[in-house]
Amino acid sequence: MTYIIDLKTVSPSELAQFWQREVQRWREQLFWDVSDRFDTLRRVLERRGLQGVALRIGTQIEGYAYYIISGRLGVLAGLDLAPGWAGTEAAKTLLQAALHALWQHGPTRIESPFLSFDGTWLPPAFEAQGFLTYWREFLRLQIDEQLDDWLEPPKPSLPMALEPWHNAHLPEAAEIMHAAYEGEVDTEMSALYRTVGGCRLILEQILHQRNSGVPIDRASAFVRHRGEGIGFIVITEIAPQQGHLAQVAVRPAYQRQGLGHLLLKYSLSQLAALEFNTLSLLVSRCNARALRLYQVMGFQAILAFPVFAWEPDI
Ligand SMILES: CC(C)(COP(=O)(O)OP(=O)(O)OC[C@H]1O[C@@H](n2cnc3c(N)ncnc32)[C@H](O)[C@@H]1OP(=O)(O)O)[C@@H](O)C(=O)NCCC(=O)NCCS
Repeated sequence: MTYIIDLKTVSPSELAQFWQREVQRWREQLFWDVSDRFDTLRRVLERRGLQGVALRIGTQIEGYAYYIISGRLGVLAGLDLAPGWAGTEAAKTLLQAALHALWQHGPTRIESPFLSFDGTWLPPAFEAQGFLTYWREFLRLQIDEQLDDWLEPPKPSLPMALEPWHNAHLPEAAEIMHAAYEGEVDTEMSALYRTVGGCRLILEQILHQRNSGVPIDRASAFVRHRGEGIGFIVITEIAPQQGHLAQVAVRPAYQRQGLGHLLLKYSLSQLAALEFNTLSLLVSRCNARALRLYQVMGFQAILAFPVFAWEPDI
C-alpha cells in the first residue's frame, strides 16, 4: 500500500540513508561537502520542526519532501526518492501532496529551487500543477591544471580600485546586485532578486548563514570607480580546496567592459595562490551573458537541473 504521511511522524533514522546518498552525490559529482546541511535537517526533524510529507510504501519510507513558509512565499526546499522511484506514479503523488500541503498555507507564490541529480521527470510533473520550469547549470573550472595561467593578477583598463571583500560592503553590494539583475531570468525564478532588501538577504545567507560554504574574503572583491561601488564577487569554500563563485554582479552602466572577466581573474589568481583545485558556480541557462563569460574562461558543464516557480497568474 502507498501512503502519504506527515513528515512530523517520520524519525531521522528513517531518512538517514537518503541523506548519506545525497552527501555522497554532492561530494563525488559537485566536490561539495553538504554534510552540515543534512545535520541541520536532522536536528530540525528531530524536534518535529520540518514541514513536509513522506511517501511510505508498506513499512518503508521511499521518498520525502519538505518546505518552508516565509510570509506569503512558499519554498519547496527539497524532494528526494529512494533509488528506482524517480518518475513513478508514487513519486508524482509525493510531489502533488507536498504542493497541496504548501497551498493550504495560502501562498501568493511558490518557488522550488532545490538541486536534483535525476530530475528529468520533474518538469512535466510541476508543469501539470501550473508551474514554470527554468534550467540551471552547475559549471566547474579546474584551477590546478593551469595554475600558472591564473597566478598573474589582472590589470584593470578603467581607473578603478579593487578592494578585498569586507562585510561592510554588503549594503552597497545589494544595490549593485539589484541593478545588475533587473530584467534577468533570475528575477522570475526567485522573487528575492526583485528588491534591494531581497538581494541583501541573499548575500546575508551566503556571508552570515553560510548556505554556500565558508566565505573567503581574500578571494572575494569589491570594485569602485571614482568612489562609487560598481561591481563585486563573493567566493566561498565548499569543501577543502574547492572554491565556489557564490555571487558576482556588475552595475549595468559598467557591463561589457571586461569587469566581470577581471573580477573572475582576480578571484582565480587568489585561489591559485591558496592552491585551490577548482572553482564552481551555478548559472541560469537563459543568462546568456554570464554563461558566455564562463565558457570563454574554460568552465565545463557538470550538471543541469530544473527549478520551478508558481504564481496564480503565471
Ligand atoms: C555576468 C556579469 C557579471 C558580467 O559582467 P561584465 O562586466 O559585463 O563582463 P565582461 O565585460 O567581462 O564580459 C561580458 C561581455 O563583454 C565583452 N567585453 C569585455 N570587454 C569588452 C570591451 N572592452 N568592449 C566591449 N565588450 C567587452 C565580453 O567579451 C563579453 O561579451 P559577450 O557577452 O558578447 O561574450 C554581468 O553581466 C552582470 O552583473 N549580470 C547580472 C548578474 C549575473 O548574471 N551574475 C552572474 C550570475 S551566475
